[in-house]
Amino acid sequence: MLETLQPKVQDESRQGEAYAPANGVFNDYNKKFYIESYGCQMNFSDSEIVASILNEQGFGSTRNVEEADLVLLNTCSIREKAEVTVRKRLTEFRKFKHDRPGLLIGVLGCMAERLKSKLLEEEKLVDLVVGPDAYRTLPGLIGEAGEGQKAVNVLLSREETYADISPVRLNSNGITAFVSIMRGCNNMCSFCVVPFTRGRERSRDANSIVAECTALFNEGYREVTLLGQNVDSYYWVNDSKQEVTFAQLLEKCALIDPELRIRFSTSHPKDITDPVLYTMAKYPNICRYIHLPLQSGSTRVLQLMNRTYTREWYIAKVKRIREIMPDCGISSDIIAGFCTETDEDHKDTLDVMEQSAYDFSYMFIYSERPGTLAARRYADDIPEEIKKDRLTQIVNLQNRLSLESNRKDIGKTFTVLIEGDSKRSDQQWMGRNSQNKVLVFPKTDHPASQKGNYIDVRVIDCTQGTLIGEAIAG
Ligand code: SAH
Ligand code: SF4
Ligand code: F3S
Repeated sequence: MLETLQPKVQDESRQGEAYAPANGVFNDYNKKFYIESYGCQMNFSDSEIVASILNEQGFGSTRNVEEADLVLLNTCSIREKAEVTVRKRLTEFRKFKHDRPGLLIGVLGCMAERLKSKLLEEEKLVDLVVGPDAYRTLPGLIGEAGEGQKAVNVLLSREETYADISPVRLNSNGITAFVSIMRGCNNMCSFCVVPFTRGRERSRDANSIVAECTALFNEGYREVTLLGQNVDSYYWVNDSKQEVTFAQLLEKCALIDPELRIRFSTSHPKDITDPVLYTMAKYPNICRYIHLPLQSGSTRVLQLMNRTYTREWYIAKVKRIREIMPDCGISSDIIAGFCTETDEDHKDTLDVMEQSAYDFSYMFIYSERPGTLAARRYADDIPEEIKKDRLTQIVNLQNRLSLESNRKDIGKTFTVLIEGDSKRSDQQWMGRNSQNKVLVFPKTDHPASQKGNYIDVRVIDCTQGTLIGEAIAG
């Protein structure tokens, strides 16, 4: 996990992390798999489902690629650069295959879905290609690939949510976990490949979500992040026709235990409704933090992006959030240099960022993705130099906003969930406040000063990415 909230130009949230189970215990498996995940948190969460399916088949996980019988890459297609990184990695893996002919290499996730059997046939880089809705068929596909057959399943589903599969927590700190609540996306933002790689939106059985969160709490976890491409449009109807909206799901999760923090990601601004905001305000254990991707601050560009809101509507939404929860942290995603973007449009983006006073943003250069509405309808006509220059301005502004936001916290006291040692020193703890800001503070011999505990911390200093504090021992 990123330890700081340092704004940066982000290509993929985390890249190529190798996994092993949280508890580090390897059971008596007769074969080993190695998995690397790229892209969004959904992919990291899916890798935990895949690990569970493979464990059932006698595969244990390893962090050492050289001892693996099966190497998997869970891939991302969101920007071209994400795909280039994966291709490079696959070429590196090919040399292992040369030395060990029995080794199987598989591509999972969004790139598998986008390129389908092309990866297998044209480029001969891999043995297995499995899309995000087809992981249950992995065991059969591994068998087929082992016999030298083409093993591809990229069928998308309208129902699959893997609700009944208990994820194997990989690389976990034992305190914070991600719980997938929905899959797919129906929004069709014109720049975005996700609706094509992840398929139609579908929500997971609310009871299975609450059961998973409860089990995590009982195992000692103290924070769950409910995951989906668009969590606010969560909607599930049970057998007796009772409906569960996102606001109701949040409430159910909040009621599990006041000591369990609830977060969620990501929210499309159009779906953050008053009932969601009031539910957040009602329960202190639902974190005061909303990731509310803006993309562009120009109404004209937003229309081309098919985002369904105007700049004024978005600004009003931010105001509404702060009315209901004055202490709510807000972060954003911004795209620089979308098709036809003028200097004026770009200034509109900077202006909305300033008005929203984001604590943090993920900022990207527009990357045309084949098959998307934008690729079909509009020319990718902003020169690379201009895109880069606009991105630099956006990043510089966000750096200033983050520092201003952090400076305002100096002197305040926050309840922090201790996640583990700070990256820099094992004499310091690292944790987050409700607003998702990272706090670093010295360990003390107070009984509360332990991983997984809540502790009050007074902020005494800050950088652009981190609040520096001291624990107030009770
Ligand atoms: N479902 C999430 C976004 C998932 S993709 C949401 O709607 O909020 C994460 C971010 O990647 C997007 O918010 C967008 O800012 C960025 N992104 C998506 N497609 C992109 C593209 N073609 N070029 C550049 N950035 C893109
Ligand atoms: Fe992509 Fe838009 Fe769906 Fe987010 S809401 S995944 S940006 S189509
Ligand atoms: Fe990437 Fe797919 Fe996530 S394209 S951002 S891994 S949904």
